[in-house]
Amino acid sequence: MAKKAKKAKKPQPKGKGEESVRILISRARLQRRITEMAREIRKDFPGEPLHLVGVLKGAVFFLTELGRQIPGDVSFDFIAVASYGLGTHSSGQVRLTRDLDSSIEGKTVIVVEDILDTGMTLQYLLRVFEQRKPKRIRVAVLLDKPERRIAAVHADYVGFTIPNEFVVGFGLDYAERYRNMPDVGVLSLGTKGGEA
Ligand code: IMP
Ligand code: MG
Repeated sequence: MAKKAKKAKKPQPKGKGEESVRILISRARLQRRITEMAREIRKDFPGEPLHLVGVLKGAVFFLTELGRQIPGDVSFDFIAVASYGLGTHSSGQVRLTRDLDSSIEGKTVIVVEDILDTGMTLQYLLRVFEQRKPKRIRVAVLLDKPERRIAAVHADYVGFTIPNEFVVGFGLDYAERYRNMPDVGVLSLGTKGGEA
């Protein structure tokens, strides 16, 4: 996908193999696409107050970038779930670790997620939100890995469809690291590392 694949060596954690990140989507491409998504969302709901619900922590950079570019009435809230633990494999279990601050009843809610992988997280969240009687719910994800889907959920707005590889950066983490990388890259754990 990336026009120029670049290798960026990262500091080695103690006791693990050499990790490396290959850039998949540059910061510039991310920004261009997010601008388009913001326009698309506003076009679909002209003049309507939009309530963006970001899924912590991965969606933070995506939400701030998207939110800044949607004109008109926009409010935010955040929810946090735990699903992945520290490794690169999903446990398949989703648990709410931080709830919303305010009610979503009667609101047009845009759920903002970093990545749609198995879909378990989104399925869980949509069930929770639907019980709270919003006017409507739409889903915006920065990245989509359709090959991994288990749950029958779909996103209304997708930034990039990516292959089945573990990615980090622009909010996405591996064991809480790499979230601050400005691009999205594919993480290789190296020979001695092994997946957690
Ligand atoms: P799902 O429930 O399997 O769809 O996974 C959703 C969550 O898993 C995302 O919000 C991420 O936190 C995490 N996740 C899934 N794939 C990746 C990845 O490639 N890199 C980093 N986190 C991921
Ligand atoms: Mg995560």
